[in-house]
Amino acid sequence: MHVLFVTSEAFPLIKTGGLADVSGALPKAIKSAASFNGDIKVLLPAYRGVLSKLTAVKEVASIEALKHSCTLFSGYLPDSDVEVIAIKNDVLYDRAGGPYTDESGADWNDNALRFGVLSRVASLLSKQDSPLNWQPDIVHCNDWQTGLTPTYMKLVDQVPVKSIFSIHNMAYQGNFDVNVISQLELPAQHFNMNGFEFYQQLSFMKAGLFYADQLSSVSPTYAKEIQTVHYGFGLQGLLKTRAEQLTGILNGIDTQDWNPATDSHLIKPYSDKNITGKKAVKKALQQQLGLSINPDAPLLGVVSRFAYQKGLDLLPPIIPKLVADGCQLAILGSGEKALEDGFVALQKQFPNNISITVGYNEPMSHNIMAGADLFIMPSRFEPCGLNQLYGLTYGTPPIVSATGGLADSVRDTTPETIKNNTATGFVLKNVTNASLLGTIQSAVKLWRDKQVWRKIQKNGMQTDVSWSSSANLYLDLYEKTLSQ
Ligand code: ADP
Ligand code: GLC
Repeated sequence: MHVLFVTSEAFPLIKTGGLADVSGALPKAIKSAASFNGDIKVLLPAYRGVLSKLTAVKEVASIEALKHSCTLFSGYLPDSDVEVIAIKNDVLYDRAGGPYTDESGADWNDNALRFGVLSRVASLLSKQDSPLNWQPDIVHCNDWQTGLTPTYMKLVDQVPVKSIFSIHNMAYQGNFDVNVISQLELPAQHFNMNGFEFYQQLSFMKAGLFYADQLSSVSPTYAKEIQTVHYGFGLQGLLKTRAEQLTGILNGIDTQDWNPATDSHLIKPYSDKNITGKKAVKKALQQQLGLSINPDAPLLGVVSRFAYQKGLDLLPPIIPKLVADGCQLAILGSGEKALEDGFVALQKQFPNNISITVGYNEPMSHNIMAGADLFIMPSRFEPCGLNQLYGLTYGTPPIVSATGGLADSVRDTTPETIKNNTATGFVLKNVTNASLLGTIQSAVKLWRDKQVWRKIQKNGMQTDVSWSSSANLYLDLYEKTLSQ
């Protein structure tokens, strides 16, 4: 079985969020699955800096897509045998800033073309005359940036190769003005309800959902939620009609990158069997962030994009109360300016208790995950979420809302789940300030009971959140798609 895994980001080459974690880890897990007899290649744009992070890079082909000449480079993900094909076109991809936005955070105004080219190249590589001399049996697409791939495969190239479209987040759909259709060389007669139109716009996401042979999403609960008005962002109807082809598979984590026993970002490793190192990490973190160095202050961690999805606007109003209770907060993230500013003001007001780092910082994200006592994630919706999985693994029980992958991965602490050793975290009753405050307060109360706390930590640390079982579920999905 040959798989082409198409994505707009992959850790450690380029990352803005969980999609990169998945794209960096799932292909590795598939490749090493005992039942996988085949090959998987990852396809992504060669943004600035990407080629220098690959190992054994070489130029392998050139290809023209949407009137843009591209050079294809082959290399390997660091410390892995997974091959990456990077599409180099400097006009489209060699820029300062991020993969989707410029340095000020504004979307690149040619994103339709940039990700149209990614989708177009994926389809061309699935043709028999592919310049790679390698043809996939399955093209596995991820999120809207790859959404036109199944359209090109079906309507333009008419290849018999199967496609799967994985939904990581329905909130980002890649909807563009109709006038990009000709530039994208799409057959205009399919710009209608039964095609790639979504309310008079071209929608990459809708195209993926409509033309892919199979669909998946990143947790079983989210796969159901997106078929409802509240979570479907207008595409719930289409998702409902495709429910039989939609599978929910929970994300896993890369245990090479995220393991407290081997994590090189931490001053002291620790594990489920010997957790003492976690205290040293907490102390170092308090010191680094300018918080008062106090092992008895419950330290709450946040690492996140600041977006409506994440529910972090619930925090500022309850921070004075949390500080009065003796809690500390270590926050890392960026996004909505009002929230960034709000946290900065609270840090000024409570410098011993509140720390905010605005920006993206990989080492600090590991240190917050390890040094905090509790991880806070009150998302309004969460397709899967990776941070709660890191929290479980790092002995930092997550406080989460009951949605998407959070509901599928965290077991609430109750007298019963403490007794039967299944409690792994804390689940909010509602996504409100009061519920968040109340849940943090009950969690902190239990944290002070060291015996019970060790049990909760142990339950989480012993939970298998690696990719191994989910990689097998993807393989089942590949088999099912092929036999369709
Ligand atoms: P999403 O993809 O919706 O942002 P996930 O929980 O799936 O949410 O994944 C987020 C990933 O991005 C995690 O690996 C998290 O540690 C990382 N991350 C988020 N914000 C930052 C940041 N400011 N600095 C470093 N890593 C971050
Ligand atoms: C999206 C979702 C997040 C998920 C990630 C990887 O960014 O917001 O919940 O974990 O994709 O699938």
